[in-house]
Amino acid sequence: MCGIVGYVGPRSAVEILIPGLARLEYRGYDSAGVAFWEEKGIAIIKQAGRIADLERSLARAGVPDARAGIGHTRWATHGVPNTINAHPHRDCTGQVIVVHNGIIENWMELKAELEANGHEFASETDTEVVAHMIEEMPEVALEEAVRLVMKRAEGALALAVMRSSDSQLLVGARRGSPLVVGRGEGENFLGSDIPAFLEHTRKMIVVDDDRVVAIRPESVTVTDLDGNPVEAAERLIEWDLEAAEKGGYATFMEKEIFEQPKAIADTLRGRIGPNGLVRLTEFAEAERRLREIDKVFVVACGTSFHAAMMAKYAIERWTRLPVEIDIASEFRYRDPVLDRRSLVIGISQSGETLDTLAAVRYARAQGSVLVGVSNVVDSALAREADAVLYTRAGPEIGVAATKTFTTQLVALQLIGLHLAQVRGTMDEGTIVNLVQGIRRLPASVEAVLETVPDITELAKELADTRDVFFLGRSGDFPVAMEGALKLKEIAYVRAEGYAAGEMKHGPIALIEPGVLVVGVATDSHVRGKTLSNMAEMKARGATILLVLAEGHRDEALSVADHIVEVPSGPDLIYTVTSVVPLQVLAYQIASARGLDVDKPRNLAKTVTVE
Ligand code: M6R
Repeated sequence: MCGIVGYVGPRSAVEILIPGLARLEYRGYDSAGVAFWEEKGIAIIKQAGRIADLERSLARAGVPDARAGIGHTRWATHGVPNTINAHPHRDCTGQVIVVHNGIIENWMELKAELEANGHEFASETDTEVVAHMIEEMPEVALEEAVRLVMKRAEGALALAVMRSSDSQLLVGARRGSPLVVGRGEGENFLGSDIPAFLEHTRKMIVVDDDRVVAIRPESVTVTDLDGNPVEAAERLIEWDLEAAEKGGYATFMEKEIFEQPKAIADTLRGRIGPNGLVRLTEFAEAERRLREIDKVFVVACGTSFHAAMMAKYAIERWTRLPVEIDIASEFRYRDPVLDRRSLVIGISQSGETLDTLAAVRYARAQGSVLVGVSNVVDSALAREADAVLYTRAGPEIGVAATKTFTTQLVALQLIGLHLAQVRGTMDEGTIVNLVQGIRRLPASVEAVLETVPDITELAKELADTRDVFFLGRSGDFPVAMEGALKLKEIAYVRAEGYAAGEMKHGPIALIEPGVLVVGVATDSHVRGKTLSNMAEMKARGATILLVLAEGHRDEALSVADHIVEVPSGPDLIYTVTSVVPLQVLAYQIASARGLDVDKPRNLAKTVTVE
């Protein structure tokens, strides 16, 4: 996720681009830059850091008097977040300038072709191939050159491009990643999202997939990839600025819950080969050592630890390697038995959690192989690891983890299957079937999100509940733990996550009328056992809410007071769908209680103290 802004018109472009970028900072903030026309051609100013740093540099240099330009705020996916990798990017001549949001999946192949033709690359980004591809077509009109690039580039991308031969033209293109045009009087705007230009105009055009848009001060033309004109309806924006920044959602957390299908699709992008098997190029260098490991440790904190719990079930089942999991703050103090044949997986969305970093550094000192799972490119965890798998969920602003958790689960599923492939512990047909299940997750999570109105009604009914247990077995156990954590941290309700079979060993003494028990029962070999445990809770007066894989309603009717159905799919993989109703339940209970879900009390998004 990154933010793109463009402006062409009579006003000072940079003075429009910078506030536009600041409004898109929620989309990424590891580096930023602008390009604008000046007397001698197009100038680029960019740097690592936030928009405010760029603004200060521009102010020091004197704000240029340009009438058109493009800008970018970056959330790194390819290449570390430094100044060289910051956008805009340019071709060899400096005449073609590009900003990009998304991932060009075949960029390595395109780059190899361009390098063979003599192009020299300055950055490590996938984006730069676009500038060099357009450089190859100096005689071709910019709109057409961009159409040709779009035909060759695979993956999700939104582009804004300018060329020094035409100081009145910006060209945008879109597939998968968002792009909107703001229509003004004698001026026009481009943006990844409406806040980029909302203070200047309320008229907008949504650019559809596989469309190219040419904007000049007086005109906006939209074409398909064959150059045929396409009618693009103008809409009036009714949101205020704050609503627009949250995409019309009431809070960032709600927005992030709804972003999960896209976030999961981004996690998967380019990581499944044409043969239907997992393809993790990130692990190529560590491959030899991964073959030799004889034990796995997974360390993490909070929600990321619940992903670690899930990883234990999946990796042990698929690779037959023993897996130990540890809350990161406990790991190094218990003196774990580690050596060079141990694989240590550190999970941290921020990649900066001190306890997790200390745990992986401890493991490094013992010579173990380190794999990181992080949402932040070039985070401290990423730098520490021998190999890192980025979850690509985009920035998460709400303090409670949602989309970073579901994408961690998917990333860990990929790692588990990759290890099974490398070690030959599963037959390929079985792996291909599981991968197909993973591929269906974005659509299945989308289906779960359609039930939000029903869960909202339920949440209103349950909003006054003060004692809640979340129960599950096997892969549903980490989901239960996560459901309890969500309810605790944003709704301030005392909630316990338990292995369903463990209740009878003590906690069942707490069950009485007025206690809510949320059971999670996906399509697994232990579903029947979970339902029996729920019957035990019901018999003692608890109210039962079941998150249940579809197709099993009849088995559950006698134990459940409320049922939320989730799509059925392969065991362990489809637990991803069952956590979403629990996120929504916590969110709606917190909202019904009038709490600030984005900033719960006493919490910080990243915990950098021990
Ligand atoms: O950035 P990390 O994934 O390392 O963060 C770990 C925990 O601090 C985090 O998951 C925390 O539990 C969240 N508040 C969960 O919503």
